[in-house]
Amino acid sequence: MKLTLTVWRQKNPADPGRFETYQVKDVSEHMSFLEMLDVLNEELMLGGKDPIVFEHDCREGICGTCGFVINGIAHGPRRGTTVCQLHMRYFKDGDQLILEPWRSKAFPVLRDLMVDRSALDRIIQSGGYISTGTGAAPEANSLPVPKERADLAFDAAACIGCGACVAACPNASAMLFTAAKICHLGLFPQGQPERLRRVHDMVGQMAAEGFGGCTNIGECEAACPKNIGLPFIAQMNRDLIVSSFWRPSKTDTLHALAES
Ligand code: SF4
Ligand code: FES
Repeated sequence: MKLTLTVWRQKNPADPGRFETYQVKDVSEHMSFLEMLDVLNEELMLGGKDPIVFEHDCREGICGTCGFVINGIAHGPRRGTTVCQLHMRYFKDGDQLILEPWRSKAFPVLRDLMVDRSALDRIIQSGGYISTGTGAAPEANSLPVPKERADLAFDAAACIGCGACVAACPNASAMLFTAAKICHLGLFPQGQPERLRRVHDMVGQMAAEGFGGCTNIGECEAACPKNIGLPFIAQMNRDLIVSSFWRPSKTDTLHALAES
């Protein structure tokens, strides 16, 4: 099959950027989208041109590294699918595709389709962990967790941190990502001691990074390759309301002092 690709090209964060159009021939339906770009990049390099920069690592839908917008849809037209798992059989001969990086003030474009998503790392650093002395591995059944809770926590933990939710949201909100990271810890008994501090700090960091707020549009859920659901945002908001009554304890203050 033959495709026409119109791709965002930007040399560095200061470059204003522009679209460039390329023809790609002999695309096999068995190729992944990234393999199709690999073929185009080889051609570009053989012609002495710069290849299109895009991020990837596992190419199996698990690392969260890949991601860009295809014809206005984050990760492309297949629901619940990362762009590395998107195959060319879902496109047809003669298709015209527009490829753009995630668009959000909090995700500055580094080059072409690659953006800086370190804002998501900083949200995790602000509280997405459990600080406890683990010691030896405890007996598996010493702390019972109801099956429904474990399943729900597992659903939240499926978030791969790709940032598609931010790219899809008209408010460039990172609430689905942040909610997933908060809920997968807050649903477990081990996550309870720091639950309020966690939501307080992570939502605060999210706002400080310049992400917008949620206005219940739901584009994030539709774009999420791991089908993380809006109810996690509702759970995060409930915890956030409770956390507004939370005040740092003496231990928290000592902890903050030790960190400073
Ligand atoms: S919530 Fe979904 S779209 Fe957002 S970062 Fe996690 S996996 Fe990606
Ligand atoms: S490259 Fe790892 S999720 Fe796509």
